Amino acid sequence: MESDIILQRMEKTGLVPVVVIENVEDAVPTAKALLEGGIDMMEITFRTACAKDAIAKVKNEVPGMLVGAGTILDIRQAKEAVSAGAEFIVSPGFSEEVVRWCVENKIATVPGCVTPTEIMAARALGLSVVKFFPANLFGGIKAIKTLSGVFRDMRFLPTGGVNLDNISEFAAESCIVAIGGSFVCTSKDIREHNFETITKLSRESVEKIHAARV
Ligand code: 3PG
Repeated sequence: MESDIILQRMEKTGLVPVVVIENVEDAVPTAKALLEGGIDMMEITFRTACAKDAIAKVKNEVPGMLVGAGTILDIRQAKEAVSAGAEFIVSPGFSEEVVRWCVENKIATVPGCVTPTEIMAARALGLSVVKFFPANLFGGIKAIKTLSGVFRDMRFLPTGGVNLDNISEFAAESCIVAIGGSFVCTSKDIREHNFETITKLSRESVEKIHAARV
């Protein structure tokens, strides 16, 4: 899928769940629970040994779910994730090597950028969307709005401390492309197979985000 189409999907869905899969068997039911709640894309983080297999399983077994890889720290992981089927790459910070490789291979990538210098580096490589992480510690929506006043052609995916209580204040701003976070599918809910809770939280979050945008 073209990287522009993935960014459009991110905006349309409004929420990119950050998913930590500890047991590969949990990947498909988690994806289905998110989908049921109106979330048709997910970021499976490279923080666990089974991340690659989890991505492959969701890609092959859950039609309609767009799966990407998160917590990509280097080029080796980026290549592994894409080989497993990841359709987009999210990183906590900015790696020129990872971004260049994704751009050259037409893979959507959202690196973490919280300073003007990092945003300029991403922009120079042709990106128009960056992750803002950890949003709660780097000034939240106030900081993003200030940066957006300067970088008018950039949009932001805030993650880190974003949750049901504060998503509306992020979602209301046009510089926010979508919200990211683990709050709709916590490790605990995945581990304990609380898939109905995941669906419920997904639905509530998507509703809040779309209500805040109008
Ligand atoms: C991320 O990788 O973006 C963060 O772990 C998400 O932060 P959260 O768990 O506070 O939502």
